[in-house]
Amino acid sequence: MITIQNLDKAFAKQKVLSDVTIKIADGEKVLLLGHNGAGKTTLIRCLLGEYRPDHGTVTVAGHSLAHERVAALRKIAFVPQLPPPIRFTLNELFEYAAKIGHCDIDKIRKNSIYFGLNTDAHDHKAFYKLSGGMKQKTLISIAFSRDADIFIFDEPTANLDTMGRDRFRERISADAMKEKTIIFIGHRLEELSSVVTRIIELDLGKVIRDEQA
Ligand SMILES: Nc1ncnc2c1ncn2[C@@H]1O[C@H](COP(=O)(O)OP(=O)(O)OP(=O)(O)O)[C@@H](O)[C@H]1O
Ligand SMILES: [Mg+2]
Repeated sequence: MITIQNLDKAFAKQKVLSDVTIKIADGEKVLLLGHNGAGKTTLIRCLLGEYRPDHGTVTVAGHSLAHERVAALRKIAFVPQLPPPIRFTLNELFEYAAKIGHCDIDKIRKNSIYFGLNTDAHDHKAFYKLSGGMKQKTLISIAFSRDADIFIFDEPTANLDTMGRDRFRERISADAMKEKTIIFIGHRLEELSSVVTRIIELDLGKVIRDEQA
């Protein structure tokens, strides 16, 4: 269970989130919609404890993000909207991710092939030098290798080619994901309509729609 309660967040004088309350039960597949700048990524960053809210609380599986962040994040796999400028090579990144994510490096490699990443050709290239779609495929491959209960994808298919999109849709629809909680941030429902169970829309930092899909 994810509980976001009366969340406010401002940057300088700009109020970005305003009294946001959302409860997400285990197994829900939520699509978070909203215009550019509506506050979607900020909400996710508060959920991950990367931004400290000005008011309100976030808990994941009963753990407060403010006080027990490590426990709260243990079962969350997250793919950010903008990949960080990691200097590791792909090989080093896979090793690092396997170690800190407690997952099998062979599983990451298998996933990267499944998502169409040509690792052989790029194993020794720094992650930040990869193309936008290749970075996204790398981070998606790592996320699906984690033993997570909650998956959060911030515009995961924005840079993917057709095969990458098809594979992503296939993977999130698989039986193995039935029990998992997934939050997608996106702009289009069509791609995910067979998976999504709930739609939440933000506008100017407020929830303006919250309904079953
Ligand atoms: N670290 C920050 N410092 C200052 N302003 C910020 C910061 N992070 C976000 N904002 C502002 O908060 C607002 C919401 O940004 P956010 O990234 O949450 O939007 P979004 O809904 O994810 O949009 P998009 O669809 O473009 O990704 C924007 O006006 C943005 O400039
Ligand atoms: Mg965003």
